[in-house]
Order: sequence, then C-alpha cells, then structure tokens
Amino acid sequence: MKKKVLAALLSVAMVATLLAGCGSKEAPAEAPAETEAPAETEEPADAEEPAETEAPAASGDFADKKVGVCIYQFSDNFMTLFRTELENYLISLGFAKENITIQDGQNDQGTQSNQIDAFINDKVDVLIINPVNSSSAETITDKVVGAGIPLVYINREPDESEEQRWADNNWDVTYVGCDARQSGTMQGEMIVDLGLEKVDLNGDGKVQYIMIEGDPENVDAKYRTEFSVKALTDAGWEVEQLDDQVGNWDQVKAQELVSNALGQHGEKIEVVFCNNDAMALGALQAIDTAGRKVGEDIFLVGVDALSEALENVINGTMTGTVFNDHISQSHSAADAAVNYLTGAGNEHYIGCDYVKVTTENAQEVLDSVK
Ligand code: BGC
Repeated sequence: MKKKVLAALLSVAMVATLLAGCGSKEAPAEAPAETEAPAETEEPADAEEPAETEAPAASGDFADKKVGVCIYQFSDNFMTLFRTELENYLISLGFAKENITIQDGQNDQGTQSNQIDAFINDKVDVLIINPVNSSSAETITDKVVGAGIPLVYINREPDESEEQRWADNNWDVTYVGCDARQSGTMQGEMIVDLGLEKVDLNGDGKVQYIMIEGDPENVDAKYRTEFSVKALTDAGWEVEQLDDQVGNWDQVKAQELVSNALGQHGEKIEVVFCNNDAMALGALQAIDTAGRKVGEDIFLVGVDALSEALENVINGTMTGTVFNDHISQSHSAADAAVNYLTGAGNEHYIGCDYVKVTTENAQEVLDSVK
C-alpha cells in the first residue's frame, strides 16, 4: 500500500536532505538530522500497529462501529485528499462504508458544532474532528468527552493548554498532525539552498518577499509565516517584507492578492512565500499574467505537494513545495481511532514529518501519491 512506498521514500528523502526529525513537538527543524526513518506516528509502545499488514485480522471487528468525521470545509483541496484517504483506509481496516459519516463544516463553527451534537445523539463510537476554529476545541472536547466518546483531532492543532487538559485528565483525546514550524523552515531552506546571489535579483544585499498566509485560525499559517522567513535570517540573509496578506488557503484569493502585490511592487518582489500549494497555484497564475518567470526573475514556494504543484516543481514553474503527508496523517488518525476502540489507547500527540520537495524528488513524490 501507499504507506510502505512512502515510508521508504520519506526515509531516503530524510537522510538525503538532512531533515530535522520531528516525531515530537519539541523538535522543529533545527534539530540535528535523523538517520532513521521518520516515525509515521508516535504510537504508544504497547499499542499494536493496526496498519495494513494487520488489516485482514482487524477486518470485521469494526464493521458495526460508527465513525463520525467532521471536516472544517469540503472545498479545501488538501482536506479533500485527507478525507478521501481517511475513508478508504478506514474501510481497509474493516469499517463499513455506511458506518463512516463525514460532514462538511462549511467553514462555520456553528454548523460544525451542530454536526458534532448530531453525532453524539447518534452515539457514534469514535469521532475524528478537523475543527473550524481550533479555539473552540475546549468546548468540543468537553462535549465529546462528556458523552464518553473518544476523540481524534486532525490538521488544526488545539493550543498547548487544551492538549495538557487531555493528559491531566487522562482523557481519550489526541491530536494527529505535523509540526508546521518544520514546513516553514523547509520552505525557507529551499530558498536559501539556491544561494543569495541567485535569489537577490536586484543585488541590493536583501531578499524582498511577499507572504500569502492561510487562515489565521490555523497554527499552520502562523508557524509557516514565521519559520519560512526565519530560515533566511538564520542563514544570515537580510530580508525585507513588501507585503503580507491573508489568502485563507484559497487559490482564487491568492491570485488576486499576488496580482495586486505584483502591480504595486513589480520587479522588487524576489520571493513569494505561500502557506500552502493552493495559494501558490493562484500566485503562479498571477506571476504568469505579469509576464514573470519562476526560477529566472522570481521564486515561489508552497506547502502540501498537491499533484498540480508537484508538476509545476518538475517543470520549474514552482521553486519547491513541502510534502504535507495526508496519507500518513489520515492513517495515523484512523489507527488512533482503532487504538481507542480496542482499548490500547494513544499518546495525546501523534506527530509526523514534512518532506522538502524540489526538482530532485518531485517526480518520486508525485508517483507515490498517485
Ligand atoms: C494545509 C492547507 C489546508 C489547511 C486546512 C494545512 O495543513 O497545508 O492546505 O488548507 O491545512 O486546515
């Protein structure tokens, strides 16, 4: 299955690019390189791996278990890949398709809260939630734990104090996701790896950039914004921010923002940082329309490794992206749900690693996600 191929690929990529290990939150990208394969999940030592090798044994055991899944917004490209893989993997573990219900929160916390209430009334056995607002996690947790239902948060990480509550109370609540600081650092490092001479197109000794941010409700946006630039300053580069706008993870919005920025700052813009690939694709449309050429007179990086972005990296029309492993994350989320159902339990934080994607490995990553 895809997971195996990816594990091998990730392990090679990890060693080759000397990535920071990030199975835990404390190790953002500055940590020393790891030589071993990245932990796909932080599974508790006593928990069995309910991965694909065990799927046949598990088959049937979960056929009558009801899984409720809340996605913050179906139209999000990355979350579409995530939920599709999540459903397929749950089915491969023996869950019945008709017992897996996935709801679209339509980017509205009120709508999502009603969906959670309905799942509780329906007495689902486990809930997997991608919150609309991470700041609503406390209320959501209280409700779900109060109903005695185990809970796996995905993609939008609740804050530290909320996670601490789960541990303090020994609740069946966990978070599955990657450390966004790592993805930001990798974006910046891919720019640094090009060399200042190449990136500082106007030769003023500074790198002029614009930042297109995701939804501020998601810490991924905050950390990617901060750590991408930090990688440049950590390398001793001087930077100048020409613009910083919220594109809400959205391609169309990003196209509009980057088009405005290009109109305003023109050739001064040397680097376009986008917190995700959907926005990088929008940025690329604006760059094309402005007659600029990525790799020649501007540089562009995103995060996620959407297929279209990978094709652009292969063609040189995007400088790079960072693989946000929806396969590993969705499998870990399903495995965590299984661990609650079997009583094995979980740690309260289950991490994963990002992978830098440049022309060197873009084809490999594309083959692995197809
Ligand atoms: C992804 C974005 C996505 C967001 C949704 C992020 O991790 O990089 O593409 O829109 O999650 O919350």
